[in-house]
Amino acid sequence: MSNRLFIISNRLPVSIEETENNGYDIKKSSGGLVSAISSYLKSGGKEAFSEQIWAGFPDCSPEVWQKAHAEANAQSEYDYLPVFINKDDYNLYYNGFSNSLLWPLFHYFPSFAEYNDEDFETYMRVNRSFADAVIPQIRKDDMVWIHDYHVLPLAGMLREKFPDLSIGLFLHIPFPSYELFRTIPKQWQQALLSGMAGADLVGFHTMDYASHFLDCVEQVLKVEHEGQSFLYNGRRVKADAFPISIDVDLFHKAAESPEVRRHKNNYLELKGDKKLIFSVDRLDYTKGVDNRLKGYHKFLLDNPDYIGKVVFVLVIVPSRDEITKYAEQKKAIDEYIGNMNSSLGDIAWQPVLYHYNKIPFDEMVALYGSCDLALITPLRDGMNLVAKEFVATRTDKKGVLILSELAGAARELTDALLINPNDITEIAEAIKTGLEMPVEAQARRMEAMQACVAGYDVNSWATDLTKSLTAVKKNQSGTEVT
Ligand code: F6P
Repeated sequence: MSNRLFIISNRLPVSIEETENNGYDIKKSSGGLVSAISSYLKSGGKEAFSEQIWAGFPDCSPEVWQKAHAEANAQSEYDYLPVFINKDDYNLYYNGFSNSLLWPLFHYFPSFAEYNDEDFETYMRVNRSFADAVIPQIRKDDMVWIHDYHVLPLAGMLREKFPDLSIGLFLHIPFPSYELFRTIPKQWQQALLSGMAGADLVGFHTMDYASHFLDCVEQVLKVEHEGQSFLYNGRRVKADAFPISIDVDLFHKAAESPEVRRHKNNYLELKGDKKLIFSVDRLDYTKGVDNRLKGYHKFLLDNPDYIGKVVFVLVIVPSRDEITKYAEQKKAIDEYIGNMNSSLGDIAWQPVLYHYNKIPFDEMVALYGSCDLALITPLRDGMNLVAKEFVATRTDKKGVLILSELAGAARELTDALLINPNDITEIAEAIKTGLEMPVEAQARRMEAMQACVAGYDVNSWATDLTKSLTAVKKNQSGTEVT
């Protein structure tokens, strides 16, 4: 057993909601980051560390936390370290700099990016609050994992205090090319990159993102890289790719569970002899839902024989609804579906079954298992775990995956039907090809994708990160290239 694992991310894996009569509700957070780390720790990762501490925003006031934290801690494998941020600061840091500048820019939506001094100042101040909260708790021999774009400068802030601490930073979204990154004011570029360079290891989903980062470091920090690493303030920093994945066994087992079978039977009955297309995403303009709907619409217009014989179950999970661009996206999706259902459908058949809400795990797995085609068309996506979950669920080797080539997952799932998400005709044609694909071809592609997902699951991801960070630390004599 080695040292403690100290995880830092914007959200804690729980949030505490205040209820009536001074009560509280403990809610588990969902999302790729939390499920990846929890799966890793549950399936053996825990043995590698003496303790796991998780620092982040608990989504409640210190008073509410005080009442609820003992119970929240007792239910969890982590010791929680709450970082309290007042409502106004959180708004400018989360809705502002993180999700109205970094998110759109890093996903190649420069026209959506908002450059506000106050957002930047608050982002830096909130990162400083994270540093102030964790510094007294950190021990020199901890392994620190910082996650995602909300806390890019944090590694640099911790490094000032702990010159030898093991710090890994993992970015869960794409890292853009310098041509986009340079649109950020110079002082901000400097703050973000020098902060990231405070880590020993900076991890990305793909080699492309790692190369973009190294290129930006060279242009902005004026430090040349040798291979995958560079010297910064006398310390060697490495950038590498660690494609995040899923708990494959969890989806395999869930596919066979009685609850999932029950839901699956209901869906199969509902589907009858129709074909079923399925997708599930957080509400986000990066997910390409408008083009997905347009592609499906075109498919039906081009292939009228399918009218009444196919249903698209579209699940959208509400997200970031205080941000205007998200509210606009929701409105556009609602309107498109309304128009399409009324122009092509009738009382007996609607082309799109739209569910705007969270969906329980068992129902989601049942939908993965009963659909003929999963339609995943992000305009940009760091990875996209839905694609991997669908593949891991299909123990029957049936079903076709249509996947955007602009998702990180497309680098691995090359046996999907890969499409350009801006090409409506290509989406429409891929839907036809997918729905008409012979079962032997479906099985061949599915087996190849399953081998790929099973070959590098969430444990491989986390173990690789840990080993790589340990190796970088060992080799960090100042000059050695790792
Ligand atoms: O994909 C990046 C990410 O930060 C995930 O880690 C997370 O699950 C998702 O976006 C949702 O983010 P938010 O915390 O804004 O709901």
